[in-house]
Amino acid sequence: MEKILNLLNIANTAIPKEKKLITTSLAKATWYLKKGDPVAIPTETVYGLAANIYDENAVKKIFEIKKRPAFNPLIVHVASIDSMKEVAVNIPPIAYTLAEKFWPGPLTLILEKKSTILDCITAGKKTVAVRMPNHKMTLELIKRVGFPLAAPSANPFGSISPTSAQHVANYFKKELNVVLDGGECEKGIESTIVGFENGKVILYRLGVISKEMIEFVVGEVELLNIDDNQPKAPGMLLKHYAPKTKMIMSEHPFKRANDMLGSKIGLLIFGNEKFTDSRYTVKNLSENGDVAEAAKNLYAHMHLLDEMGLELIIAQKFPDAGIGKSINDRLSRACWSEMNYTSTNIFSE
Ligand code: TXA
Ligand code: MG
Repeated sequence: MEKILNLLNIANTAIPKEKKLITTSLAKATWYLKKGDPVAIPTETVYGLAANIYDENAVKKIFEIKKRPAFNPLIVHVASIDSMKEVAVNIPPIAYTLAEKFWPGPLTLILEKKSTILDCITAGKKTVAVRMPNHKMTLELIKRVGFPLAAPSANPFGSISPTSAQHVANYFKKELNVVLDGGECEKGIESTIVGFENGKVILYRLGVISKEMIEFVVGEVELLNIDDNQPKAPGMLLKHYAPKTKMIMSEHPFKRANDMLGSKIGLLIFGNEKFTDSRYTVKNLSENGDVAEAAKNLYAHMHLLDEMGLELIIAQKFPDAGIGKSINDRLSRACWSEMNYTSTNIFSE
């Protein structure tokens, strides 16, 4: 019914004249979303590939475009704290406490889903992931269309997440009509995901908001056991966020590069140590060693290095606390060799 009303609604509106894929036109984004086509949207974390949560065909198109397995559920994006009630039931008070503290912002809450939420969004689970992003354009878009938006990150499944409209266009210029350009993502890595089980707060995915920041608000939180064979959040899959170029992690990337005698090596580093060896392509995530700045630059620099035809990227490991821990998590998953990845090097090294 909703779909028919939407179609009738847009039948009265002219097709937007704007022809460019990358656009700032909210009218164009609104038109395509109401028609049932996915649209790429900016958020403060990474770009998302969005569709009307009540339009099953549109949501299924997201999975097709991304080649995302159907077992991997999507995050529902809302424009207010109050809208949690539109998608979830039995919301625990602690969820409101967290939303009031961090929304709009990079925190996703896993809640008991309302019966109106499509199974294809939640991958058949009884829970739904919800977040209110901190991006003016997207909040305005959600208000204009009048429905929440289901949106995973706007990258092919398993590859580097996009932090600019151009990154999305590079991936999906054939598949999409609209990439809504909201500039470079301010935070640069995905939201932190938390759920609630038996009165406890569980951390499912490390992200922009650190474990310490969550604990400051709600007390001690439990980490998901990532050795589970059935990962609860497929962002936890071993190989994810990965460049095409082979990548490894090291505490001493220059030394590692020297030991390898390789030619086409890229180094992804941070901090102000100066190295003059011109054999390597060096990208510095933050010369000041500022982890927030490093997170913001992480995927953009990975995209750049990945386009240079290198044989190997060596990424410097961050001090394992706060956002540094989240960056290490993404770097570990981007590494090709699963030898580099153990549950301990992610969470407790
Ligand atoms: O910052 C972000 O979270 C970005 C922007 C676009 O909002 N979105 C994003 O979406 O990273 P995606 O699809 O790449 O990652 C969403 C994660 C997946 O790992 C998925 O498994 C998990 O959220 N997820 C979604 N619903 C879930 C549920 N009901 N229970 C457990 N995990 C869930
Ligand atoms: Mg993703």
